[in-house]
Amino acid sequence: MTAILQISDTHIVPEGAVVSGKLDTADTLARLVERIGSIRHQIGPIDALLVSGDLSDDGSAGSYARFRSLIAPLDLPVCVVPGNHDAREPMRAAFAYDLPETGALNWSRQFGDIRLIGLDTLVEGQGAGFLSRDSLGFLESALLQADGAPVLLALHHPPFACGIAFMDKIGLTNKEALEEILAGYSGVLRLVCGHIHSLMISDISGHVAMSSPSPCSTFAYDRRSDAPVGYMIENDGCLLHTWDKRFQSIRIGPVAGTGPFPF
Ligand SMILES: [Fe+2]
Repeated sequence: MTAILQISDTHIVPEGAVVSGKLDTADTLARLVERIGSIRHQIGPIDALLVSGDLSDDGSAGSYARFRSLIAPLDLPVCVVPGNHDAREPMRAAFAYDLPETGALNWSRQFGDIRLIGLDTLVEGQGAGFLSRDSLGFLESALLQADGAPVLLALHHPPFACGIAFMDKIGLTNKEALEEILAGYSGVLRLVCGHIHSLMISDISGHVAMSSPSPCSTFAYDRRSDAPVGYMIENDGCLLHTWDKRFQSIRIGPVAGTGPFPF
């Protein structure tokens, strides 16, 4: 079995800072890392950690250094795609061992049976995402190379509307181009993303598409056009995606329940 752990939207800031004057995002990530550590013996080997964007809240070098030290206890290979809060060059520098030296932060890696592909949707200075011609071309060749193998495709911005108006305004602006490419992939493919700080399951071109919760905050599922704009303080967990003849994805919550109790 191949297992990829997905953590998203950690919004880390440099030591001594908090987000929006009140969110201690380093503390929530540290607690999630501890929680995962406490159940590793139950869930078995994990092949890699995928981080689906907004690692940092402010794009600073200090935030990436802090992020790396917070996830170090997991002791896993780390694959990252940028979100709208990230900054491409500081992020490239922090993960230089794994990211291309120039251009978009696109990559393709093999872990066990899974071909893990990461796409860069960041447009610096704006919230919405966009897949450049280069990134779309990268995806086409990565899928050709995958040659029908199981693919886990990661990007920050969901290629589906979530129903929360202020988030959909900053969604992926050219999702049609992605749909067209994915429609041509004959193997099993699962798309995973972040951005909306909620677990949501949808589809794209016949493939499952799902977003990860965030350890630090979420957005109210308020579909009214005049819904208040803002975040909710709610700590959630992460996702574990496994492949054993088929994909399965399970949410790992931020805290353990009590038990197990005999039936
Ligand atoms: Fe985010």
